[in-house]
Order: sequence, then C-alpha cells, then structure tokens
Amino acid sequence: MPTHGPKEVLIRIRATTVSSADWRARSLAMPAGFGAMARPAFGLIAPRQPVLGTELAGEVSATGKSVSRFRVGDRVFAFADARFGCHAEYRAMPEHGLIAHMPANLSFETAAALCFGGTTALGFLRDKGNLKRGERVLIVGASGCVGSAAVQLAHHFGGRVTAVCSAANLDLVRGIGAEAVIDYKAQDLAAIGQTFDIILDTTGTAPFARCGQLLKPGGRLLVVLGTLAQTLGLGGPSRASGLSMIGGVPRVQPKDLELLAQLAQAGHFQPVIDQVFPLENAVQAHAYVDKGHKRGSVVLTVSKT
Ligand SMILES: NC(=O)c1ccc[n+]([C@@H]2O[C@H](COP(=O)([O-])OP(=O)(O)OC[C@H]3O[C@@H](n4cnc5c(N)ncnc54)[C@H](OP(=O)(O)O)[C@@H]3O)[C@@H](O)[C@H]2O)c1
Repeated sequence: MPTHGPKEVLIRIRATTVSSADWRARSLAMPAGFGAMARPAFGLIAPRQPVLGTELAGEVSATGKSVSRFRVGDRVFAFADARFGCHAEYRAMPEHGLIAHMPANLSFETAAALCFGGTTALGFLRDKGNLKRGERVLIVGASGCVGSAAVQLAHHFGGRVTAVCSAANLDLVRGIGAEAVIDYKAQDLAAIGQTFDIILDTTGTAPFARCGQLLKPGGRLLVVLGTLAQTLGLGGPSRASGLSMIGGVPRVQPKDLELLAQLAQAGHFQPVIDQVFPLENAVQAHAYVDKGHKRGSVVLTVSKT
C-alpha cells in the first residue's frame, strides 16, 4: 500500500492501460539514436520503476490533510506518464498534478485511456503544430493510441483529416473523423500527390526526406516518433523553406486533463479501446501490445476486492 503525503490523494485504481511507453520501458526498444539513453533512463541493472502503467482511472480512497480539490469517493483519472506505477491496486498522486475528475458519463475503462493518446495528440497538434481551423492534416498511424486521439482532436479543432492506416482500420478512422483515408500497404504515401498543412507521424515512416514534398507552404511535420537526429532537427527543412519539423515530448498541464474530460463528456473525444484484460492477465496484454498492431488502447481492469 503506497503512503500519501499531506498534499496527495490515494487512488484506488479501477482501470489502467498498457501503452507503447510500457513496451518501450520493458523492452528498451528505442528509436534510432536513443538506445544509449534507455538504460540510464529506465534502470541500469534492474527496472528503475518495476510497476509500469502510465495512466489510470479510479476512486479517491484517502486524502492528505492539505488536500482541498478532492474528497474520498471522487471518481478521477490521472496521468503518471514516465513515472509509471499505475499497474497496481493503489497509487498516490499530488492533488495539483496530472489528475482530474472523471466525466460522469464515462466508464473507468474509457477514462483510463484518455491521457496517453489524448495529451500527446493535444500537445503536438495544438501546442507544437498550432493547428488552425480548415487546415489539412495528415495523420500517419491513425489507428494507434496517439493516432486515433489525433484524428478526433484534429477533427474537433476544425482540421480536415486524412488518415493513414492499414485496410482493416479504414472504417475505424472514418468513423472517428477522417474525411479521407490512405491504406499505407496499398499506396506509396510519398507519391500520393496531395499536400497538407500538418503531417503528424506516429510511426517514423514519414520523415522529411521522404514526405517533405507533401507539406504546403508554411507546413509543419510533427514527429511523434522520430530518431534522435530528427529530434535535434537534423535532416529537416531549411529555415528559408518556411517549413518546420517539430519533435520532442509535449509539456502536459493539469488543465489539459480538464479539457480532455470536457471533450470526452461532450462526445468529441472517445478513446478507442481495442481489448480489455484483467490485471491478472497483464502478461497477455503486454504480449499483445508488443506486436505493435493494437487499435487505440489496451485496458487493464483492476477488480474491487
Ligand atoms: N513524442 C512523444 O511524446 C510520444 C508520446 C507517445 C508515444 N510516442 C511514440 O509514438 C509511437 C506511437 O505510439 P502509440 O501509442 O500510438 O502506438 P500504438 O498504439 O502501438 O500504434 C500502433 C498502430 O500503428 C499502426 N501502424 C503501424 N505501422 C504503421 C504504418 N507504417 N502506417 C500507418 N499505421 C501504422 C498499427 O496498425 P497496423 O500495424 O495494424 O497497420 C497500429 O494500429 C510509439 O513509438 C511511441 O513510442 C511518442
């Protein structure tokens, strides 16, 4: 049982997810150039954080004596991000950290899946990409957790979305807001002969060298999954071109969770859930996520004992 400080709440976890971050932390499979950083980041000889899980939904079971935002019994969702620790029955979170009240119309399973994809999509499209209404947005990897959130949020913010995924997922992405779809196995993305204001790449298959010609003047390539070189800006457009390539990791604020909750409550953002496993079957859930073909999120439910 974790202990909680005076400014923390203790959460009885009811659902969590197995994300691509859990897979990376466990496997140490990193994008090119990041390999040397994996062990220092995740643990030199043993996992730094043995309990994985980046996000959760549950009920507040105790509050520290200075806590005023939450009461025992409140239904909340939270994002632990790279601090992990959500594949568990309980987790303590700072009351002013990345934690928010759950929308009343959401299940624990859905609320648990709001943060990983939602905050990444928000951070890239809104903050790094400065998406404006009417802009054309190409989302590569649209059926994944980040991609399916990006399709919905880009559509909600007024973007005109073209989604890139495999044939089995074309209907899924059309159903969540894509106005056009491209099957990456049937068409060469680099040769589609269309241009976009924003390309958001969650797969590492649309680097500037291959897909730069798909950007309109002023276009932005948002590198959610990229190499160290790309993150450092190498191999991107020249300054004179007016194009930009932006990678890195979004800065998530507590108000981002409030926004995701509002959008979910209003039906503008519904996390796609692929499969739900009980926590006892976490091994199978991880094995499924490891294959790299999940649609949206894989959820773990934590039974109430
Ligand atoms: N920069 C950041 O802050 C940040 C944050 C979160 C995640 N990430 C990174 O972003 C990547 C994606 O994360 P995620 O959680 O969305 O992964 P995910 O849910 O595991 O994505 C898997 C999806 O990608 C699709 N896919 C695979 N190859 C594709 C291709 N060439 N074209 C189009 N779709 C393809 C798969 O569909 P099929 O294979 O069935 O076609 C599957 O639906 C991960 O590598 C993660 O490490 C970065």
